[in-house]
Amino acid sequence: MPGADGTHPAQGPLTVSKPCPQRTCASPAPYTLAGWDTNASVRLDRTPYALPADLESQLGDRHWFVPAFMPYLDHPDIVQAGTSVVRRLEANQLVYFLDYTTVLEHKLVNRAVETLIHNELGLHVPLAMKNAALQLYTDEGYHALFSNQIAEQVAELYGINNRSRPAHRIQRLQHQIDICRPADRALHWFLIGFVSETIIAKELLGAIHVPLVSTVLDMFKSHLGDEARHSRYFSEVFAHVWSLLDDVQRAKAATQLLTLLGIFFESDTRWLKESLASVDLNPTTIEQICIQLQQPAVHQQRVRAGARATVLALANAGFFTLEHNRRLFLSAGFMDA
Ligand SMILES: [Fe+2]
Ligand SMILES: [Fe+2]
Repeated sequence: MPGADGTHPAQGPLTVSKPCPQRTCASPAPYTLAGWDTNASVRLDRTPYALPADLESQLGDRHWFVPAFMPYLDHPDIVQAGTSVVRRLEANQLVYFLDYTTVLEHKLVNRAVETLIHNELGLHVPLAMKNAALQLYTDEGYHALFSNQIAEQVAELYGINNRSRPAHRIQRLQHQIDICRPADRALHWFLIGFVSETIIAKELLGAIHVPLVSTVLDMFKSHLGDEARHSRYFSEVFAHVWSLLDDVQRAKAATQLLTLLGIFFESDTRWLKESLASVDLNPTTIEQICIQLQQPAVHQQRVRAGARATVLALANAGFFTLEHNRRLFLSAGFMDA
């Protein structure tokens, strides 16, 4: 994915530093969402996120979604099919991404945040950490709102009607919760939140430098502003939680983190086949595209490129000082030696 730079998302261009009344703040206090009262999108946005009046002309050279996140657009059959087919595939992918985001924010990220707010981990949660968790919970509710608002409009415009089944990633993550021991469940929820929140800022950062339909671009920028803070917060909270886990919990967490990272970068073959079939692509071409995206080396590359902030947060927490964990991630091909 573009924008892979390994830098901390909180240091990205959209992070707004507010003057500190008492002292010069080089970095925000730990476990907080810096300037949330004045910077959070739920406090700032006054945009209704309606599609623009000049949509038709925008679609001449603006995209619905980020082409770099859709490598199959380079297939000769799709290139040959022309712009209207490409725009339809982008619209499909945008609606899919926004529907996924809406479910993710409510049912996974906020479920993870609840483990901090309601002391489900059985670990000490400092007051500042709890307060920021309550703010973050509010942010995610608003992200679900604006994601859904745009998804509904684009789905209506194109008659996209395969939206009822949860995304493959959601199903796979929920399955991980279903199969774990009840005593481990809260920690697994937390880890899902940590992985998700350290990945999403990178995804959004890759979106905001692309000429997208203006409404979509505004929304992604607004979301990224929040997610840069969330990524930093979750990285710090992970370090805190990791420091308090015992050896058995750490071993389970390491295995679970590896599984989760793999799941976050799997392709949703069933949905992709439906999307490609909606533009009447040749079934052989559809099969070729799906097989290519599932190749283990291609999957590993997606993990390495997309999870740098996650791996950096793990490293900063001391996760890789355990040689077993380092070997685990290296042998999975999820990070460079
Ligand atoms: Fe979000
Ligand atoms: Fe978030």
